[in-house]
Amino acid sequence: MMKPALFALVASAAHLVAATKPNILFILTDDQDWHMQSLQHMPLLQKYLLHEGTLYSNHYCTVALCCPSRVNLWTGRAAHNTNVTDVWAPYGGYPKIVREGINDNYLPHWLQDVGYNTYYSGKLWNHHTVDNYNAPYAGGFNGSDFLLDPHTYQYRNATMTRNGGPPVNYAGEYSPDITAEKAYGFLHEALSHDNPFFLVHAPIAPHSNVHFFPEFLADKPMYADRHAHLFKDYHIPRTENFNPEVQGGVSWVKDLPRLNDTVIEYNDEFQRARLRSLQSVDEMVEKMVKILDAAGQLENTYIFYTTDNGYHISQHRMHPGKECGFDTDVHIPLIVRGPDVPAGHISDAVTAHTDLVSTIMHLAGGSVPDTDGLPIPLTKESEGESRHEHVTIEYWGLAIPEGVFGWYANNSMSDPGFYVPGNAAGNNTYKAIRIIGESHNLYYSVWCTGEKEFYDLKEDSGETRNLLAEEHSSAYYTLAGRSFDQIVPRLDALMMVLKSCKGRSCIEPWRELHPSGDVTSLLDSLEAKFDAFYDHQPKVSFAKCEVAYFRENEGPFDVNRFGVEDETAEGAWKWWHDAELKRSVENGANRGKWSDWT
Ligand SMILES: *[C@@H]1O[C@H](CO)[C@@H](O)[C@H](O)[C@H]1NC(C)=O
Ligand SMILES: *[C@@H]1O[C@H](CO)[C@@H](O)[C@H](O)[C@H]1NC(C)=O
Ligand SMILES: *[C@@H]1O[C@H](CO)[C@@H](O)[C@H](O)[C@H]1NC(C)=O
Ligand SMILES: *[C@@H]1O[C@H](CO)[C@@H](O)[C@H](O)[C@H]1NC(C)=O
Ligand SMILES: *[C@@H]1O[C@H](CO)[C@@H](O)[C@H](O)[C@H]1NC(C)=O
Ligand SMILES: *[C@@H]1O[C@H](CO)[C@@H](O)[C@H](O)[C@H]1NC(C)=O
Repeated sequence: MMKPALFALVASAAHLVAATKPNILFILTDDQDWHMQSLQHMPLLQKYLLHEGTLYSNHYCTVALCCPSRVNLWTGRAAHNTNVTDVWAPYGGYPKIVREGINDNYLPHWLQDVGYNTYYSGKLWNHHTVDNYNAPYAGGFNGSDFLLDPHTYQYRNATMTRNGGPPVNYAGEYSPDITAEKAYGFLHEALSHDNPFFLVHAPIAPHSNVHFFPEFLADKPMYADRHAHLFKDYHIPRTENFNPEVQGGVSWVKDLPRLNDTVIEYNDEFQRARLRSLQSVDEMVEKMVKILDAAGQLENTYIFYTTDNGYHISQHRMHPGKECGFDTDVHIPLIVRGPDVPAGHISDAVTAHTDLVSTIMHLAGGSVPDTDGLPIPLTKESEGESRHEHVTIEYWGLAIPEGVFGWYANNSMSDPGFYVPGNAAGNNTYKAIRIIGESHNLYYSVWCTGEKEFYDLKEDSGETRNLLAEEHSSAYYTLAGRSFDQIVPRLDALMMVLKSCKGRSCIEPWRELHPSGDVTSLLDSLEAKFDAFYDHQPKVSFAKCEVAYFRENEGPFDVNRFGVEDETAEGAWKWWHDAELKRSVENGANRGKWSDWT
């Protein structure tokens, strides 16, 4: 039995710790764009978050699809380490999340372990349904009200489970307003306790309105009647990549026909509807800030605002949708307001969703098991610290066109699993990297078809000129005096590391290639003395186009290390060598360069 005096001391110390930890309010929208001016159309978000906080101008999701991206966000692990790569079972969705052990091991649990009360309102995962919500219950939250499939994306027919209770239908009510009301309720509840809190509001806006039955249809999002009059004159910015006359891209993208005026008109209205749906979110931001302020907790609360992935409409001749590696789909808004976060500031640090769990756990005074991320700089001082320049992007599966005109190539890969729409494009499996430094701003990708892309976003921000395509000259592109042909092998090697990285190798990938630590950036790697080393690295490749992450499909895994004799790397080199030989024989092509490789 504890002595009363000692007990009082322990109790008050615990209370003190709890009281000094900051609260975290996390707002997660669904499919919000950076590139079609969504932030510019949210005046209250500007007033309360942009003017009072920091905008992260180089923030990325790592998989441009709701469910894999949310798993990446809430675990801090790359998709190749969670193996949740789709929205539906068997490769994604709630059943796969449960099977991978994530339901018992992700951010809300870790926050509870360090004294936080946790709450969630809105969409948690996909394939989290009226049938499986209780088998098992979603873990980690003290209070929750989750939207459930198959009605998650029905703006006026939401069905939700509150704290694990039987699903309740809200026919006729507007989903983003319902989830906001529930979030206010949780905020009041959280504020009534002494412990710090973590509250997520994840409304469906501005996702399209989706019916799965009788057939898949993803139409314009619905908006509240009070916003119907807004943005009648809005048009999607006619940037160079908008329904371009000359199409770029690779795989299924390069074959897309140009969109006609009927579709363009529909698409403009599609984005207007998205902007209107975001007005409910905008109002919610103000109300949250006012509740926190009235409770005297605004100055002790970090507010994060972001989305799961970006969105394209008409860019690259595409119907509304995501799932691509273009910046429209992966470059997304992130705004943070809170203690010591500079107000009205724009940070150019290169950050990703992978980093947010460690950022939050750092604020909460805890640590993250097995993270592939690095806390983002929240203060002026931390912004000066050196940071890597890369983002790892990956994707396995299909590209699903949304909108009433949405239709892409028919393909044999769209195995009719759970709700898979029949008009999706296959061969949408690729790995990519974004590299952003003072002298360069690059996108590099390798596809399951063997095709590659290299965009120089300093000259071509719309990613319309693939410098690896025959019709474009790469001769102009140099970096640190080195030619294009010297640069590409460095990117290949970096991607080799990142495609299977774990922990430190995701954060400091160059160290895997140069264990001595003297190379930490693309520019460092370009020194001529490394040319032969990079020319002889195994390269990223795929045995074929697959819908999910099967290790045996994904070519070699190990890289050579500079200055290190390594038998594993020799083995990988042989694998690559043999696989290439097999492929060249199958293609019936005698690739002239074979002798160069031996
Ligand atoms: C929230 O849940 C955690 C973990 O179950 C528990 O320790 C804590 O007491 C709960 N908080 C409240 C206010 O019930
Ligand atoms: C609305 O949700 C209810 C209850 O989940 C469901 O029975 C009904 O079919 C849905 N309506 C539509 C139009 O999908
Ligand atoms: C425009 O394209 C859509 C989708 O391909 C098609 O359904 C429609 O008939 C076309 N409209 C005109 C006027 O050509
Ligand atoms: C796909 O199949 C549908 C229906 O069978 C057909 O109408 C359409 O032209 C096909 N589209 C392509 C791009 O092959
Ligand atoms: C997918 O890529 C393979 C390999 O390049 C090609 O043979 C096939 O036609 C492509 N399929 C589609 C649907 O584009
Ligand atoms: C990913 O999950 C799928 C389905 O469960 C499985 O077949 C595959 O082998 C897994 N991939 C890896 C690399 O573990």
